[in-house]
Amino acid sequence: MEKVGIIGGGLMGTGIAYVVASHIDAETVVVDVAEEILQKSRATCEGLARRAVEKGQAAEADAKGWLQRLRHSTKKTDVQSASFVIEAAPEDLKLKREIFAELDNICGAEAILASNTTGLPITQIAAATRHPERVIGTHFFNPAPVMKLVEIVRGFATSDATIQKTREFCSRLGKESILVEKDYPGFITTRVYNGYLSEALRCLEEGVGSAADIDKACRLAFNHPMGPFETLDLVGLDTCLKVAESLQAAYGERFRPAPLLRQMVSAGRLGRKSRAGFYDYARKEKGA
Ligand SMILES: NC(=O)c1ccc[n+]([C@@H]2O[C@H](COP(=O)([O-])OP(=O)(O)OC[C@H]3O[C@@H](n4cnc5c(N)ncnc54)[C@H](O)[C@@H]3O)[C@@H](O)[C@H]2O)c1
Repeated sequence: MEKVGIIGGGLMGTGIAYVVASHIDAETVVVDVAEEILQKSRATCEGLARRAVEKGQAAEADAKGWLQRLRHSTKKTDVQSASFVIEAAPEDLKLKREIFAELDNICGAEAILASNTTGLPITQIAAATRHPERVIGTHFFNPAPVMKLVEIVRGFATSDATIQKTREFCSRLGKESILVEKDYPGFITTRVYNGYLSEALRCLEEGVGSAADIDKACRLAFNHPMGPFETLDLVGLDTCLKVAESLQAAYGERFRPAPLLRQMVSAGRLGRKSRAGFYDYARKEKGA
């Protein structure tokens, strides 16, 4: 049986694991550092599968099969025979390089090693391995089971064969893909969208409007399903700050993180994951 490895069972790793298990007949192994994180990841996938059945999107037997294909482990060696491994660990270059160096020693000669990084250079991640030609960026979007796009990123040494196989893999997952030909930090989507988020933060800081009104304005004016603050809360403010910092390091002042974003992270208001961000999720009501 085909095997797919997912490193990191947080927000994105869990969503990607669900997509893999529900689309292809592959043993899907999620690896994280602690059992309780893996239990939460499994419970999230069980909830997603249950809802798919309730909505009539899947037969009960199929959903049961998806969950049976999902495995959870605290050992990276359990992805040893995987043909495809997707890393979804925190947005930290040093950590990702360590993980890739480890995977390079564990995985077989044909395995494709992909990073779900939002904007870190694939070339630098790949340089931690002896096979940079098999390292690639696969940037899924949140929530992974819903969002159609995967931004595929070519590192400096990524081979055409790796790109081709990755595009085929994404299409088997029911995703559309685009190819980022040059490995510039932030790729396409993160670079463009960060400018938009940053300007929304500055509007709020300057008192131009409330978070709720800026969100409403952007939803209705641009036909976006969510406003910038709803998106920041969904993605996680800590992740957004790390992304903004890495863009600033690459491109300079124009990507300087808004002070409000830094303050919110220091205060522990990380968005939905901490039940408070621009909106309050503990009281299930909106309005920061
Ligand atoms: N949050 C989003 O909306 C979003 C969207 C697209 C891409 N991304 C990117 O996806 C990646 C993951 O983001 P996330 O939001 O899922 O983060 P997260 O914090 O929810 O999950 C990261 C997981 O990685 C685990 N982890 C840490 N070190 C590890 C290690 N050495 N080995 C295995 N697991 C380890 C953590 O325990 C955690 O469960 C980041 O690179 C992020 O930039 C995030």
